[in-house]
Amino acid sequence: MKSLIKKIFLKNHPREIQELLDKSRLPDHVAIIMDGNGRWAQEKRLPRALGHRAGMESLRSAVKLCAKLGIKILTVYAFSTENWKRPQEEINILMGLLYEYIQKELDELHSEQVQVRAIGRTEELPTPALREINRAQELTAGNKKLILNIALNYGGRTEIVDAVRRIASLAAEGKINPEEITEDLFQKHLYTGDLPNPDLLIRPAGELRISNYLLWQIAYTEFYSTSVYWPDFREEEFMKALLAYQHRQRRFGGLM
Ligand code: FPP
Repeated sequence: MKSLIKKIFLKNHPREIQELLDKSRLPDHVAIIMDGNGRWAQEKRLPRALGHRAGMESLRSAVKLCAKLGIKILTVYAFSTENWKRPQEEINILMGLLYEYIQKELDELHSEQVQVRAIGRTEELPTPALREINRAQELTAGNKKLILNIALNYGGRTEIVDAVRRIASLAAEGKINPEEITEDLFQKHLYTGDLPNPDLLIRPAGELRISNYLLWQIAYTEFYSTSVYWPDFREEEFMKALLAYQHRQRRFGGLM
């Protein structure tokens, strides 16, 4: 079995990978850091904008695969609180792509029963992008097949600060006692408060860091890294990540 898996990781056999996947042991929640758009474009001597555009196609493919396999939640890092440091032109491109993604995909997402959510300080996004993301959230609010969380103006530390602020306000209003603040209660005040934590975090493009993503939620998440850039991370790469996940032993700090 081990040598078969090794062979599959060396060569690309999408059908074989799909057959090896145990459909009863898929992660419920997958998080992705969509990294490497710039390097993908640079290696092809293309403008960075085309790297982001190809990255948008990979997002479409990831959503389709999650819906097909029955993965319940997909959380993608689209724009961090630190990304405002990029040149204004690139920020405009990313916001334009977000707008375009919703414009083009919303009908299909809705018909596939995908619930779109934005997580982060979204109120600080440019108005056209914010209007589109709000429209997507309203239209798809009742959908049950797959929750697609798009992290926009998102930072893990900011999320924790926002949760602390909410809890502190409740305490100041006398609605909560400090002794009642538990891990469970804290988690409920995060942007993902009603969702289980990610089982699997995928980071393409070879970087081995967390980059301020879902800091609280990933305490026991399995981490998968690949050197493949996000624009090339299509169905078979995603299935390889799922297969690797299925060979992990999750102990949550205990013994097995
Ligand atoms: C990181 O690659 C990627 C981003 C900062 C943006 C991710 C955006 C998309 C995948 C497309 C847009 C989709 C939506 C829905 C907004 P990088 O530019 O940092 O790559 P590099 O490290 O190789 O330069």
